[in-house]
Amino acid sequence: MIKFNEVYFKYKNGPAVMESFSVDFPPGIITILGPNGSGKTTLLKLAAGMLTPQRGSVEIMGKPPAHLRGKVAYIPQSGGLYPWMKIQDNIALPLRIRGLPPEEIDRVVKKVAESLGISHLLKRYPKEISGGEQQKALVARALASGAEIWLLDEPLSMIDIDYRREIIDILKKIGKTTLVITHNVQDAIDLEGYIYIVRGPPLKIIDVYPPGRYKDADELIQKVREYFK
Ligand SMILES: Nc1ncnc2c1ncn2[C@@H]1O[C@H](COP(=O)(O)OP(=O)(O)OP(=O)(O)O)[C@@H](O)[C@H]1O
Ligand SMILES: [Mg+2]
Repeated sequence: MIKFNEVYFKYKNGPAVMESFSVDFPPGIITILGPNGSGKTTLLKLAAGMLTPQRGSVEIMGKPPAHLRGKVAYIPQSGGLYPWMKIQDNIALPLRIRGLPPEEIDRVVKKVAESLGISHLLKRYPKEISGGEQQKALVARALASGAEIWLLDEPLSMIDIDYRREIIDILKKIGKTTLVITHNVQDAIDLEGYIYIVRGPPLKIIDVYPPGRYKDADELIQKVREYFK
């Protein structure tokens, strides 16, 4: 589904984050757990086509990421909303690009905003809402876009407990192929998908747990600690 073939990637002024990295992520929800600086965001940016490997290739559904614009929703670790646009216009953007009629856009924006509890924020600008609310607006935009593939970089890190559950349920319900980076072991368990444990740089997958392998956060935390020692 999302495939890396012997990828080499190095930042100009930084480490070789991937040396010969290969993986074939299955469809469904995949959670990635790994230490700071290991290369998780880089992995997501390569999958989103925002970075290009110096060697090797990345394929999503058999195509290079650049061929899938509009089908891939990328939610960055920070930022991501256009500061000069109101929240409603930020959410509407992918639909405007697709040329949907204004009434239809309005309907979808209202619907997704309601499902995430941000209807009252639609007329504000990004700097006028909190960090967690910004994350919800980003999820709303991805939801409105109807993307086939979701790439989420710590989307839940600033979301309170109630909406965390809500967003996790939304991700499970939409049932698309979704890569989620998180530092929260409980979220990884609640997402009920595959869990990939990584370390780096260079990025390496050190273990993969199938859905349902861990149901208890303490047990998984213990396991992950052993790996990162
Ligand atoms: N633009 C850049 N230029 C140079 N080096 C970079 C750049 N971005 C990231 N790096 C380095 O590449 C490595 C991987 O970074 P990356 O952001 O992918 O880590 P991460 O796993 O997402 O970490 P975190 O959990 O802290 O978000 C780190 O060592 C980082 O310092
Ligand atoms: Mg990161």
